[in-house]
Amino acid sequence: MSGEIILEAENLKRFYEVSRGTFKQKAVLKALNGATFTLERGKTLAVVGESGCGKSTLARLVTMIERPTSGGLKISGIDIVGSDSNTRRELKSKVQIVFQDPYGSLNPRQKIGHALEEPLLVNTTMTKNQRRRAAREMMDLVGLRPEQYDRYPHMFSGGQRQRIAVARALMLNPDILVLDEPVSALDVSIQAQILNLLADLQDRFDLAYLFISHDLSVVKHIANEIMVMYLGMVIEKGSRDTVFNHPRHPYTRALLSATPIADPTREKQRIVLHGELPSPIDPPPGCYFNPRCSEATDQCLKTFPDMRMLGETQVACHNPIED
Ligand SMILES: Nc1ncnc2c1ncn2[C@@H]1O[C@H](COP(=O)(O)OP(=O)(O)OP(=O)(O)O)[C@@H](O)[C@H]1O
Ligand SMILES: [Mg+2]
Repeated sequence: MSGEIILEAENLKRFYEVSRGTFKQKAVLKALNGATFTLERGKTLAVVGESGCGKSTLARLVTMIERPTSGGLKISGIDIVGSDSNTRRELKSKVQIVFQDPYGSLNPRQKIGHALEEPLLVNTTMTKNQRRRAAREMMDLVGLRPEQYDRYPHMFSGGQRQRIAVARALMLNPDILVLDEPVSALDVSIQAQILNLLADLQDRFDLAYLFISHDLSVVKHIANEIMVMYLGMVIEKGSRDTVFNHPRHPYTRALLSATPIADPTREKQRIVLHGELPSPIDPPPGCYFNPRCSEATDQCLKTFPDMRMLGETQVACHNPIED
């Protein structure tokens, strides 16, 4: 593949200082502990992993809501970590985010037409009529009807509200959409509609998606690449087909075994992960996954494995699944 790289992260980290109680020393929580990846224009990178593995932290860094503790982050080749505030503001409009619950990000007292026009009012010199026309066009593109322009957020269903959130995110003509669990709160039938809409919009506007989900079945059709995270670490990364067909990390295999896949020819054995997710403040020595891993050896209790190529996949595991 030789597409244009629109987003580039290099060993990206975000740590938080957290209190452990009144008289105890502050602890460091490594919410994101080194993510390296690229995203091409028009493509989808899916980020998957259990709750607390650092997905939304990554989303906040990419959308410049927060600054990384260390590491590099480039948008369209421009280093956003070291750039001045003007450059940051310009780049910020190129990356937009859609959250799981759009109700939280929509003003309940603002008509949705006005909610769509607001980014244009703040960031462009468009006239009122131009803004109104742009909002109506976008409503049409995301499958909302013209008469809904004057309605308030509570008058919409969850799926419609997610259409509004997507429309709003697109008003400034971004290159990248960060979708943080965009369909997780919706019924399965509505999920499919929103996923189809996202696929159409991606083609139409050549959008790059950073698609965050705890559920691999959601990203099965839309992802080009998949990045699996565990407790702040990227543990596997590869093309959608290689990750689905030849998972290398025992954790990825377990996630996949819990994912319903419509393929009756495939025999599936469900692998149940034993044990709790360790505390991110106090991860176990060695590989963080070792307490729950059926393949763990002495080495896994001592050192965290480096990321390496195995076949077409990158994997951080001492005993990956071979062919
Ligand atoms: N502002 C913060 N201060 C302290 N800890 C934080 C902060 N934000 C996130 N964390 C911690 O960082 C870790 C990663 O959180 P994050 O929200 O990125 O996970 P996630 O993968 O998005 O989880 P979920 O699937 O539940 O949304 C968690 O342990 C979380 O408690
Ligand atoms: Mg999250």
